[in-house]
Amino acid sequence: MKKKITILPGDGIGKEVTAEGKKVLIKIAELFDHQFEFDEAAIGHDAIEATGNPLPDEILTKLKNCDAILFGAIGHPKYDNDPTLKVRPEQGLLKMRKELGLYANLRPIKLFDELLEASSIKPEILKGSDILFFRELTGDVYFGEKGRKDDNNTAYDLMIYQKYEVERIAHKAFQAARTRRKKVTSVDKANVLESSRLWRQVVTEIAKAYPDVELEHQFVDSAAMKLIQNPRSFDVVLTGNLFGDILTDEASQIAGSMGMLASASVGDTVGLYEPIHGSAHDITGKGIANPLASILSVALMLDISFGLKEEAEAVIKAVEETLKQGLRTADIADANTNKEKILNTQKMGDQVIKQMEKVGSRQVA
Ligand code: IPM
Ligand code: MG
Repeated sequence: MKKKITILPGDGIGKEVTAEGKKVLIKIAELFDHQFEFDEAAIGHDAIEATGNPLPDEILTKLKNCDAILFGAIGHPKYDNDPTLKVRPEQGLLKMRKELGLYANLRPIKLFDELLEASSIKPEILKGSDILFFRELTGDVYFGEKGRKDDNNTAYDLMIYQKYEVERIAHKAFQAARTRRKKVTSVDKANVLESSRLWRQVVTEIAKAYPDVELEHQFVDSAAMKLIQNPRSFDVVLTGNLFGDILTDEASQIAGSMGMLASASVGDTVGLYEPIHGSAHDITGKGIANPLASILSVALMLDISFGLKEEAEAVIKAVEETLKQGLRTADIADANTNKEKILNTQKMGDQVIKQMEKVGSRQVA
C-alpha cells in the first residue's frame, strides 16, 4: 500500500513523541511491505515564530492532500498566562480540526493489564475497563460566537449545536457500539442547557435506527463521578466538545497515564492522529516523555485511515509485549519498578520496534 503521511510534531514534547511514532510507521512499512512517504510541517508556536500564523495556508493545503496526519501536541507557556495575546498556538489546532472537517474525535480508554498499578485508582475498580469516547470536535463553545463587551468587563462564548452536527457523530458512536458491547452513554447537561436538550433529543431519535444498541443518558456531572466509581459500566461514551475534553482527561487515569492515550479525529476527509496529552513544557527536552500514546495513535491510523488491521494489531501487541517486559517510562512506573527498567523516550520507542520485529519474523516463519 502506498500512502502519504504528514507529520506535524507541533510544540513541546510533541516533537519527541512523534519521532517515535514515525519510527514505528517506518518499521511497519518495512515489515508489511508498504510504501509510506513522509512530509513534515510546523504548526503552533514554531509556526507563529516563523510566520506569525499558527497554521499557515500552504500547510493546510498540504494537509488536505495527504492520506493521514500524525500530530504531536500544541501549546506554549508563553501564552498560557497572557490572555491578551491575540495569536495563540491552539488556534492552529482548532482551525485544522474545523477546516479538515474532523468532527469526530475517538478516544479509546483501554487499560493494559500491566499498568493496573500505575493509576491512582484501585486496581479492582479498573480491571477490564474498556471505554471508547466519541467527542464532538468542531462545534460547541469552542466554535460558537465569542467576544467581549461592556468595556471589556463582560466575556462570552456561545454554546451552540445544530441538529446535523449531533446526528453525524451519533451515527458514528452507534455504529462503533455495534462492534463492541452495544451500549452508548450520551453525556450532556440537559437539566440546564438548551443545547444539551437538543443534543438529547437528536441522540434519542438516531438511536431508533439501532434497536440492538442500548442508549442511556447521563448528566455530565454524574458521568464524571461514575467514570471513577465504576468505569466498567461504560462502553461507548458520546458527548460534546467541551464535556469530552474534560471527561477524557479524567478518563486517562483509567488507562494509567495521559501518556498512554491515543486519539483519532475523523470526519469528511483525511484523518488526524494524536496523543490526548499536551505539549508538557515542564518535561520538554528532557527526553522522558512517554511515546506510547503517539505509537498507539499510529495503530489507530493504520486501522481507521488505511484499513490495515493486522498492522495495527502488530503495533498494539508490540506495546503490550514491551510493557510485559516490565519496561516503563517514568510516568507509568510505580514503586515496584526496577530503576533499570525506566526508559527514556527514544529507548521506549526502540523497544517497541524490537518487539515488532519479533512479530514480523513470526509472520514470515
Ligand atoms: C485536546 C486539547 C485541546 C482541546 C487544546 C490544546 C486546544 O486539550 O485535544 O484535548 O481543548 O481540544
Ligand atoms: Mg484536552
